Amino acid sequence: MSAALDGRLALVTGAGRGIGAAVVTALVHEGARVVATDRAPEGVERLAAEHGDGRITARPLDVTDADAVERLVDDTERALGPLDVAVNVAGILRPSAVVDLTDEDWAATFAVNSTGVLNVSRAAARRMTGRGRGSIVTVASNAAGVPRTGLAAYAASKAAAVMFTKCLGLEVAGRGVRCNTVSPGSTLTDMQRALWTAGDETAAARRVVDGDLAAYRTGIPLGRIADPADIADAVVFLASDRARHITMHDLYVDGGATLRA
Ligand SMILES: NC(=O)c1ccc[n+]([C@@H]2O[C@H](COP(=O)([O-])OP(=O)(O)OC[C@H]3O[C@@H](n4cnc5c(N)ncnc54)[C@H](O)[C@@H]3O)[C@@H](O)[C@H]2O)c1
Repeated sequence: MSAALDGRLALVTGAGRGIGAAVVTALVHEGARVVATDRAPEGVERLAAEHGDGRITARPLDVTDADAVERLVDDTERALGPLDVAVNVAGILRPSAVVDLTDEDWAATFAVNSTGVLNVSRAAARRMTGRGRGSIVTVASNAAGVPRTGLAAYAASKAAAVMFTKCLGLEVAGRGVRCNTVSPGSTLTDMQRALWTAGDETAAARRVVDGDLAAYRTGIPLGRIADPADIADAVVFLASDRARHITMHDLYVDGGATLRA
């Protein structure tokens, strides 16, 4: 049986660690060549060196810089051929109660989590529509669908990314391009650990799984925090032809944490 993404070329943002790095690994496992990008170059360079077979090309890219995104997509297609898949993973989280939220935190959060998704999706869609094929997957968050204390800027920026991706999906569906989102719940990465106060990691993870009624969090019915690979599997599915009849979908991968309410 051939792999789901044999011969395909994919671009991944925020690929230096965590979910982005897992997405790169999963795409390569399914036969794709991947341009792995991140604002911080060390992680993607390490990833490319570890795989060592030339299937991963590491490039620095800050998704907030629209010109740099255009240049990178242009250079990629010139050097490696047409892009089949684009995956938006880059994201930032600056927790704060709204009354304490700074203008800078709000702007920075939207610049990466919403405008970054516009920059990359637009550059990819412009080229993919001309060829009549392509898949764009955006990693959002289950916080986009359920109110959370201390996460207003993050949740709003992710909700913007989800609706943007659905609207884009509608515009380009007739030209063979599918656009979907994956909305993870708590996933074991540096971003998640940064939310935990210092101390025993196992105890902190237990509190996430058990939930916290004082913070209006229900916990995780499936009883575990996600591995980055759990999210990557959903991304690969949506990127591949196995999802050829799926567009404008928002796939929650959160162990049931939001009860899909
Ligand atoms: N970890 C979770 O629990 C969780 C839950 C829901 C959604 N998510 C989302 O999944 C995605 C990946 O999260 P993660 O947990 O792996 O985070 P992470 O912080 O471990 O990794 C994020 C990566 O994005 C990169 N990045 C940040 N700003 C960038 C920019 N302007 N341009 C390019 N790259 C940039 C960082 O350098 C980093 O390598 C994010 O969009 C995040 O919001 C994570």
